[in-house]
Amino acid sequence: MIHPDIERILFDGQTIQRRVESLAAEIERDYGGKAPLFVGILKGSFIFLADLVRCVELPCDIDFLAVSSYGKESETTGTVRVLKDLDSGIAGRDVIIVEDILDSGMTLSYIMNMLQNRQPASLSICTLLDKPSRRKAPVFARYVGFQTPDEFLVGYGLDYSDRYRNIPSICVLKREIYETV
Ligand code: IMP
Ligand code: MG
Repeated sequence: MIHPDIERILFDGQTIQRRVESLAAEIERDYGGKAPLFVGILKGSFIFLADLVRCVELPCDIDFLAVSSYGKESETTGTVRVLKDLDSGIAGRDVIIVEDILDSGMTLSYIMNMLQNRQPASLSICTLLDKPSRRKAPVFARYVGFQTPDEFLVGYGLDYSDRYRNIPSICVLKREIYETV
């Protein structure tokens, strides 16, 4: 049963899984002979990261970075706070940042700058979703799962006010849930 706060399903679980498998194949091809470090941006990327790395047949490490970029729940403030930093140094590593959704780009542009200063061998972005129409900061994602329209999405790790992350598909949230009239 679909949740009553959901307007419609955009990508169902099977569609997501197929796309994740082909992203993993691209990563495997590009990083052959290397041992990349996947950096999941918490909390939104946790399901995507878990599915992605299980399809990548390369030796790899996994770490997490927790940031908070929102003053309110659905609009960015441009201020990024690091809530949990990486456990280990990344100098000389091939780092792949794994994110749920690239929206204004403020969060990832801040994270890219921060991690670039730590001198990794390479640094790239793998985002499940991309809303290109909303971009404010120039950010290039090497791997993109799906481009999406400018609607508020939840499920498969994505939240509104920390809810709906456990819905297996990517869904459009009803406007009345996040818009106060
Ligand atoms: P940005 O800094 O504006 O690119 O925001 C990226 C972050 O905002 C993502 O990691 C998400 O946590 C959150 N976000 C942006 N759009 C959505 C959405 O449609 N649903 C859920 N979270 C979103
Ligand atoms: Mg979020």
